[in-house]
Amino acid sequence: MLDKLSSYPRVTVELGMGDSRLLEILAKSDASSLYVGIELDKEQCAQARARIALANVAIMSGSFEAIVPTFPDGSVDRFIAVLPDPAFIDEKRQDRWRPFYKTVHAKLKPSGTLQIVAEITDELLQPVDDEAYAKWVTWLESSLLSIGFTLKSRREGAPAQYSSRCLDQFRGDPERVRMATLELAK
Ligand SMILES: C[S@@+](CC[C@H](N)C(=O)[O-])C[C@H]1O[C@@H](n2cnc3c(N)ncnc32)[C@H](O)[C@@H]1O
Repeated sequence: MLDKLSSYPRVTVELGMGDSRLLEILAKSDASSLYVGIELDKEQCAQARARIALANVAIMSGSFEAIVPTFPDGSVDRFIAVLPDPAFIDEKRQDRWRPFYKTVHAKLKPSGTLQIVAEITDELLQPVDDEAYAKWVTWLESSLLSIGFTLKSRREGAPAQYSSRCLDQFRGDPERVRMATLELAK
């Protein structure tokens, strides 16, 4: 994998790629870049390897907490995290995920970016009002900025061209599951 990382001019790493649908869409549209998908679930990795026959895709089975530290510092152009597991985005679990995103920051090239698509739901599954949404986005942004990232952009929802199992499911319930996309620079 280390040889592969240095043999492409641009490297994108998707954290928790799930069904790998997004990884495949991105890799097909940009054959000169390497797309690395990391996923804990072995079955989803096996399905991705069986389905995607693209030279510029590498599937890594395992925990991104264990895998990302093995990449050389300054070797990745872009990390993408679409609807991360709550353990890597929840306010109550910051002590666990902050060190991981610090590692992500170190692995980015100087011009590198981290894109996070995250969601907020109400504990009682009521619609999320504007005030709760704005408070949550402000908290998420300030948490990531305090790690060392700078904000490039922030917007409501997920990028329109993105598709994944979870995204497509959440898009079906836009009042109760509100999403935000943060684009962060090193
Ligand atoms: C909520 S799902 C989102 C999946 C996909 N991004 C999507 O939008 O459909 C979170 C994914 O992260 C994976 N995951 C959770 N913790 C992980 C870890 N430490 N390392 C790698 N993958 C992890 C889960 O197995 C799951 O597929």
